[in-house]
Amino acid sequence: MNFNTVLFKYVSPSCARIKPSTILRYNNTFKKFHHTKMVLKATDKFATKAIHAGTHTDVHGSVIEPISLSTTFKQSSPANPVGIYEYSRSQNPNRENLENAIAALENGKYGLAFSSGSATTATVLQSLPQGSHAISIGDVYGGTHRYFTKVANAHGVETTFTNDLLKELPNLVKENTKLVWIESPTNPTLKVTDIQAVADAIKSLNKDIILVVDNTFLSPYLSNPLDFGADIVVHSATKYINGHSDVVLGVLATNDKALYEKLQFLQNAIGAIPSPFDSWLAHRGLKTLHLRVRQASLNATKIAQFLQSSPLVKAVNYPGLPTHENYAVVQKQHREALGGGMISFRIQGGSEAASKFSSSTRLFTLAESLGGIESLLEVPAVMTHGGIPKEAREASGVYDDLVRLSVGIEDGDDLLDDIKQALEIAAKK
Ligand SMILES: Cc1ncc(COP(=O)(O)O)c(C=O)c1O
Repeated sequence: MNFNTVLFKYVSPSCARIKPSTILRYNNTFKKFHHTKMVLKATDKFATKAIHAGTHTDVHGSVIEPISLSTTFKQSSPANPVGIYEYSRSQNPNRENLENAIAALENGKYGLAFSSGSATTATVLQSLPQGSHAISIGDVYGGTHRYFTKVANAHGVETTFTNDLLKELPNLVKENTKLVWIESPTNPTLKVTDIQAVADAIKSLNKDIILVVDNTFLSPYLSNPLDFGADIVVHSATKYINGHSDVVLGVLATNDKALYEKLQFLQNAIGAIPSPFDSWLAHRGLKTLHLRVRQASLNATKIAQFLQSSPLVKAVNYPGLPTHENYAVVQKQHREALGGGMISFRIQGGSEAASKFSSSTRLFTLAESLGGIESLLEVPAVMTHGGIPKEAREASGVYDDLVRLSVGIEDGDDLLDDIKQALEIAAKK
């Protein structure tokens, strides 16, 4: 096999952009790259893909890829790059490795990485023609809602929000509807949407509408929305994919070549790309995604079961509990029906108890964000969702007494003890 074959078959779908003359030059230096070989098979399971996808070595045979900080790449004559890269905004080895790994984990052909989850959302919405209409579930991430209502609308994209997407979809679709946006589970009330049912409903309309799923809360380990008919899956990789609360980054994956090319064009034109170092860190983080998300789910299940049995708790939202209103969907849409690391619950005693509880934990840190190895907690009504008027907030279940937990991968019993002691403190008058 020569390097030409390696390049086209295995290294990257974006290599299709490389000029034949460049590939010829690579053929000449292929001997140097003799370590480059594809280890993955189509039948490899998630953990194997997480460790090996997007990984290829350098001329030294480094087992872990080096960080390529160069912003520009040498050309042997004008418009003839020595290798396959020209300028780091257009493509960079570390970003490309991460993008290939994301595509592999989301069962997609193509992956793209951006400077944040928000930049990913912005780029997807920017790809819609002026005058388009979008339909979104009502309780999307606040920043996504803000982008739909304060930025996309200024560029001629109007959005309708609904709290019952499946039922309302046929009534809400207009002549110019181009996109449907799902976030599952929702934040912070953790409602789960049947992606396949929405994809089928869109297909039955026989219109040119794309389905986008924000899969941030589950990560590709727990669910792969492309398998259920989504056209694009997006993530704030700041959360589970990187998983160590030290990188802000966004990714998307798709199987649709035309969509990929449009979004890749915008990625380069807008330029909201992650740095090589952040790409490298996120790629390193995702190699342990399966271990982290599985452990977080097991810990969260233990805590959710306890909360459900506690008289100090009014209600628990956790997709991994058989009592969850969408558990039938969870069973078909989530790996092993795992619920993920996110829980929210209403504490007895109102906002005062919520505040006391969240200030009394030992291991759970009071902070926004989620999906890291460490456990976090917050009170959405006054933190992440503080900007939403009370009436609208409560209409989607975000009451003053709601506490959100991002359960990490510390020892599950230690975390449970922490929750128990903080609940007791909060219950004291
Ligand atoms: C579900 C969801 N989508 C998107 C985003 C935006 O991601 P970022 O903070 O990386 O811009 C967030 C951030 O919290 C999120 O929770």
